[in-house]
Amino acid sequence: MAAPRSPERMTLPSPAKAAVLGHLPRWGAEPLALLEEGAELARASGQDVFALWLGRPAVVGFSPDWNRTLLTDLHTFRSRGSFSGLVPHLAGGVILSDAPEHAPRRRELNPGFDRTQVSRLMDAMQAACPDIPREPFDALSWADRAVLRMLNAAYFDSDFDAAVLHAYLAPLRRGFPAPMLPNPLVRRRFDAELSRLAHLRREEPRPDLLSALLNVDDGLTEARISLAAAHDTTTHALAYALWFTAKYPQWHAPEHHPALLKEVLRLYPPGWMGSRQVAQDTRWNGIPIRKGTLALYSPYLSGRDPQRWPHAADFRPERWTRPPPAWAYLPFGGGGRTCLGLHLAQGLILTTLKGVPPLRARWGHEKAHPGLTLGPRGPLWVQAVGDSLNV
Ligand code: HEM
Repeated sequence: MAAPRSPERMTLPSPAKAAVLGHLPRWGAEPLALLEEGAELARASGQDVFALWLGRPAVVGFSPDWNRTLLTDLHTFRSRGSFSGLVPHLAGGVILSDAPEHAPRRRELNPGFDRTQVSRLMDAMQAACPDIPREPFDALSWADRAVLRMLNAAYFDSDFDAAVLHAYLAPLRRGFPAPMLPNPLVRRRFDAELSRLAHLRREEPRPDLLSALLNVDDGLTEARISLAAAHDTTTHALAYALWFTAKYPQWHAPEHHPALLKEVLRLYPPGWMGSRQVAQDTRWNGIPIRKGTLALYSPYLSGRDPQRWPHAADFRPERWTRPPPAWAYLPFGGGGRTCLGLHLAQGLILTTLKGVPPLRARWGHEKAHPGLTLGPRGPLWVQAVGDSLNV
């Protein structure tokens, strides 16, 4: 009988990889299929993590235990050295800060984005929301425009030059490598507009997020970085929410919208993958994970894990009459780094849905496309078939 292998010799399951480039080609071409294959291999061998080689060793996990550990041990699993640093729009502020500085930074920022503060921004956001066209329209393009206008209302009382804001944020929704390329000219224009408004708000504060952020250390950086974290995530979530209200009109009612949105975010979490760098040698189920390894968690894999969710692949908002399994539902991350804009995003989407007339789905490419954030592969054509819900 073979002697049991010592943990030091145990290896993690891993999908087949190319000789030199490892998993990089598949990560670039079809990352969701690669993640799903890795998770299948892991489950088949009784594991909850698997290994990838993405230019350096990476470990991906999807169980509640893995999620809780990665998201709460902020000393071992650190943001600096993760993927966020590769995208200039996101490389800074609270997103790249680590323990011990991260917690006090969040304590400073959280009050401006809490439920009460966000509820004060709702009227301004609602007023900025564009009308739903009478003719068929693409819910994705509409959501893009709506979110841009509503964020402008929330952050700047709608004073920010819309063309400059659009030019700055648009690359985040394009395919790679666009989100990774610096554009100093566009950035300079954005910064100049931000400084102009900051000057005005210092003289005369308004009930907007910019005025709140001016009371925070390096608040202009936090405004710029959080806007970038806000735009394409919320656009994709709103586009999918509109599409599913059109496909399943029985769920298009204010009392059903929270469950509909939760189900949308379970199946199509815009933040489909979160990354950290392992700061010190550690172990998982006895298997060593070396310092410098990339550690990934995936709201996409965890939200579709058949071990946690009955009929995991089906759209079933009725499942939300009960709380989700702990640490299995992470569209806004978790622990100390839970999304700063959770209330803002949910408020924006729910207030928008409330004003949307009954819709019908015409045709669309709803399949998930994982760019910087996960969104629909193509347009989502829908048509209004009645009056607004809240008229
Ligand atoms: C539906 C829309 C949104 C989704 C799905 C989403 C998702 C996420 C996720 C998964 C994380 C954790 C990332 C990680 O663990 O690495 C996160 C963090 C973050 N989000 Fe959001 N987000 C959304 C909207 C927003 C909005 C509107 C803002 C504007 C304030 C925002 C600002 C941030 C910031 C600043 C962080 C970093 C927090 C930290 O590291 O302490 N997000 N978001």
